[in-house]
Amino acid sequence: MKIAIGADHGGVHMKEAIKNHLLAQGVEVEDFGTYGTESVDYPDIAQVVARNVVDKKSDFGILICGTGIGISIAANKIKGVRAALCTNEYCGRICRHHNDANILCLGERVMGVEVAKSVTDAFLSADFDGGRHQQRVDKIHGLE
Ligand code: RB5
Repeated sequence: MKIAIGADHGGVHMKEAIKNHLLAQGVEVEDFGTYGTESVDYPDIAQVVARNVVDKKSDFGILICGTGIGISIAANKIKGVRAALCTNEYCGRICRHHNDANILCLGERVMGVEVAKSVTDAFLSADFDGGRHQQRVDKIHGLE
């Protein structure tokens, strides 16, 4: 499995923690920055990770900002993206089962890093259920 990961300055510490958590599990991770605490604009990071995912260069994306809100709004502007802002394991799992989410969004300033790791694990170990959920996902993309 290959993951594209990115964060703005508000999420850079959590990005490092999640990246290391995934690397320790043998998951391939491509890091699109940012790499320091200097202020950057989250739409720039969201765009490169989102395009990497929709172009099928990675299986999933993980995007992190201070709240997870701005970076999820930005990622969802890219056609083909289903970015889910998750604050707990249940949402991490269900956004894969029901929404076929292809990008997980997290907020460094609003959740602990251990919770973020468990949300990430739930997200990456769940599969899309298809069936009635497929028609809903199709309708989402019909709105694009
Ligand atoms: C950056 O200060 C902050 O606005 C950003 O990380 C995020 O929380 C936006 O939604």
